[in-house]
Amino acid sequence: MQKSMDNERLANRMWGGRFSSGPEKIMEEMNASIRYDKRLYRQDIAGSQAHAAMLARQGIISGEDAEAISQGLITILSEIEAGTFRFREDLEDIHMNIESRLADLIGPSAGRLHTARSRNDQVATDFRLWVRDRIDLHCMQLLDLMQMLVQRARGTASTIMPGFTHLQNAQPVTVGHHLMCYVEMLGRDRNRLVDCRKRLNECPLGAAALAGTSFPLDRDTTATELGFDRPCANSMDAVSDRDFALEFLSASAICSVHLSRLADEIVLWASAPFRFVTLGDGFSTGSSIMPQKRNPDAAELVRARAGRVCGALTALLFVSKALPLAYSKDLQEDKEQVFDATDTLALSLSAMTGILKEIKFNESVMKRAARDGHATATDLADWLVRQAGMPFREAHQVVGTLVRMAEEAGCGLDEISLADMQSVCKHINVEAMSVLDVENSVASRCSYGGTSPREVNKQVSDWEKRLACARQ
Ligand code: ARG
Repeated sequence: MQKSMDNERLANRMWGGRFSSGPEKIMEEMNASIRYDKRLYRQDIAGSQAHAAMLARQGIISGEDAEAISQGLITILSEIEAGTFRFREDLEDIHMNIESRLADLIGPSAGRLHTARSRNDQVATDFRLWVRDRIDLHCMQLLDLMQMLVQRARGTASTIMPGFTHLQNAQPVTVGHHLMCYVEMLGRDRNRLVDCRKRLNECPLGAAALAGTSFPLDRDTTATELGFDRPCANSMDAVSDRDFALEFLSASAICSVHLSRLADEIVLWASAPFRFVTLGDGFSTGSSIMPQKRNPDAAELVRARAGRVCGALTALLFVSKALPLAYSKDLQEDKEQVFDATDTLALSLSAMTGILKEIKFNESVMKRAARDGHATATDLADWLVRQAGMPFREAHQVVGTLVRMAEEAGCGLDEISLADMQSVCKHINVEAMSVLDVENSVASRCSYGGTSPREVNKQVSDWEKRLACARQ
């Protein structure tokens, strides 16, 4: 009874020759990837076009068959783009869905397309092409975000805020300097993606299942036609490794972690005790119960979503670990992770650019906060070293005593009278008092890469040139 029911399940038309019945429903559900890998349709069709044309050029299939295949693929592309293509779960994945439709459209010639090819080299090719496009997208998005930061940094090159270490007031810095710090990070993120693209850009097509093929392929032209630099040099490597996806995820994870740091600072700065910034309406939300609320939801989500991207990297590392050569179905698990990570990153990058466009820096609040916590104490110690020739350790001790004095009196370091100062250290004079001023403090930090408005403006100009160059 069970057997006759089993026999009613139709064997798969693409690979079912040796099977007398089809897969269990649960197997189909587990095995099928079409739900998500349909996103590879454009790359799959491009790969098939290049493969079919090469097969014809090499005399492996006829020119008429190649032409019919090509026309059929063009029709399928337009069907998918028009939303009229019927994706079938029983056909597992995008490769078999397209090939099956091709057979409907052009008949038996469709069966010649898979000559000297396997889904193993096909999916590896499609996925590299797809990831390559996403790298290009994120590189552009990073340029936009960096440009926004650079623009905001130009406007705040002499705006003073507290610089923190341990989230304790450390030394005053300029807002522009703080923003340019993120430009450096994001610039490296972009370089990591560019670098990953270089290693990714080899073509697996022609590796077939794992061992290569006995047909006289021309792997160089298919590689070139698809914009790859060269074919992958080892057919087993071509079908079995996903380190290009791991590198992409790793670069994306680092970038998302950078974004989460900026997002976290924005959340902090927008809070009532800080009030360093006011967020625009476009990236804030209200509360359904507390009418006064303006919540930094977008920044919070950017902060949280780094978790998804890092999770995707971890998941794919674990899929790849201890996997024997060459292809195993485990590798089908690569796509959802990458899709989710790159969709997440794309949104976070765009959202962050939007947040920064709208954000308003509350200059007077920030400047006031920069004066808190005796943030210019180091400046006074440095002055004692420079003007009184004191060893730095001794100067540190003197200023430490003055800070204790200020704390006891409940005032700022700059509010201690000169006479009181001199009772601790006779070298202190009126000029020394001026270094306690936050404006003078930031202006004095003019070492290369430092926080002075002059240095920050130099960093801004330098990046303006680099960004313009990168866009060409
Ligand atoms: N959908 C499969 C994947 O993404 C395509 C390759 C299938 N290969 C195989 N030998 N069953 O990995």
